[in-house]
Amino acid sequence: MRRPLVAANWKMHKSAEEAESYLRRLLEVVPNRPPLDLVVCPSATALHVAKGVLAGSHVAWGAQSARPEPEGAFTGEVSLAQVKEHGVSYVICGHSERRALFGEDDAVVARKVKATLAAELVPILCVGESLDQRQGGKAWAVVEGQLAAALADVELGNPSMLLVAYEPVWAIGTGMAAQPEDAQDMAGRIREWLVGRFGPQGAGVRIQYGGSVKPDNARAFLGLADVDGALVGGASLDPDSFWKIAQGAVAATQR
Ligand code: PGA
Repeated sequence: MRRPLVAANWKMHKSAEEAESYLRRLLEVVPNRPPLDLVVCPSATALHVAKGVLAGSHVAWGAQSARPEPEGAFTGEVSLAQVKEHGVSYVICGHSERRALFGEDDAVVARKVKATLAAELVPILCVGESLDQRQGGKAWAVVEGQLAAALADVELGNPSMLLVAYEPVWAIGTGMAAQPEDAQDMAGRIREWLVGRFGPQGAGVRIQYGGSVKPDNARAFLGLADVDGALVGGASLDPDSFWKIAQGAVAATQR
């Protein structure tokens, strides 16, 4: 049985002070032993706050991005070693905004995934098609290509060391979530692909759905056979809303 994992991607939101009050509130609402994994991914400027507030709690934290190179002339970027110093357990790799706005291609994403694993951190590998690609019947071909490129060199000893977030680009931040049956169709194909690539370990890799997940639709996604969690942007910016989504995951798996 795969344990659900719900992750908050704050994107470029929240000062360190706002992060602190959010995280304190989150710890008030999350019970001591939540029946799922919770991860918050703040901006790099608030990772120290996450470490200060969340260390020793049942909520983990992650980085939204980190460069694979150990150090160097990468103005404005942060390295894996730097985010690891702030206690992160997870690193988002290949988010569609990074791919589209910062020119991260499949080769860069592959290097990030590999370096993240080498740093003993868990990559949350984001894959997903654009609206044009879906309408052109190419959704699976695009996602399969992203998976094959990003995971080409990866050996997976332990399925909990990898997460795949299926995030159709047209559903991100638009309020227009995928239809649950389409999300299951893609998650099922991703699962099959992972099993083909990694054998039985692939069956244990958690697959998240992301794209306009809200408290009122979370349960529909989190109850799907191959969806084990959610990657949440906008609706994760409020701690009560984020926890409601997580509760949807728990309710869906307890049906
Ligand atoms: P959204 O973002 O929940 O605001 O659609 C999801 C994401 O970008 O991971």
